[in-house]
Amino acid sequence: MNKDHFPQPADTVEVHGVSFTHADIQAVVEDFYTRIQFDPVLEVPFRSVHDWPEHIERLTHFWWIRFGGDAYLFSHYNPVLKHFFAGFNADLLSRWLKMFHETLKSKLSAPQYELWSLISSKMGEALSMKNDIFRREYESKRSKPGTDSAD
Ligand code: HEM
Repeated sequence: MNKDHFPQPADTVEVHGVSFTHADIQAVVEDFYTRIQFDPVLEVPFRSVHDWPEHIERLTHFWWIRFGGDAYLFSHYNPVLKHFFAGFNADLLSRWLKMFHETLKSKLSAPQYELWSLISSKMGEALSMKNDIFRREYESKRSKPGTDSAD
């Protein structure tokens, strides 16, 4: 990990005219994944996470760079593959988004909440579409003996 340029809590990124400090993003991510661990439905797919502080740091970094901040961790993300094997589906996504939006509302100002809610909903739609495409490819490879398959 390259922590040479680790942001200060008060450092900001701006998305469509709305500012977020690094501390805002970290507070949302920490609160959300703490809640996930106590959710009877979502804690199940998240049992693959063995190091929660590392996951929270990784996801804080993910949103920071997604909002235009400079990368400060050596981190490669592969959400489509990870979500597919975590059993991502429409019901889990709508539960995830409901909880995420509740967290945003409790931690942020109204403009920050509205913008991040919208962005996360759009990312959920994109993830769903990519998950469906990945499933089709995965199932078609599995049904053709002799071709590479992911199992
Ligand atoms: C808009 C909705 C969502 C976003 C933006 C999102 C984003 C992410 C990102 C960026 C990662 C890190 C991926 C990586 O390390 O390469 C991740 C990990 C993960 N997500 Fe999501 N996620 C969403 C919804 C969900 C849902 C609905 C589930 C339920 C199955 C889920 C389950 C997981 C799990 C289990 C991991 C950790 C995988 C591991 O490292 O073991 N996510 N998510």
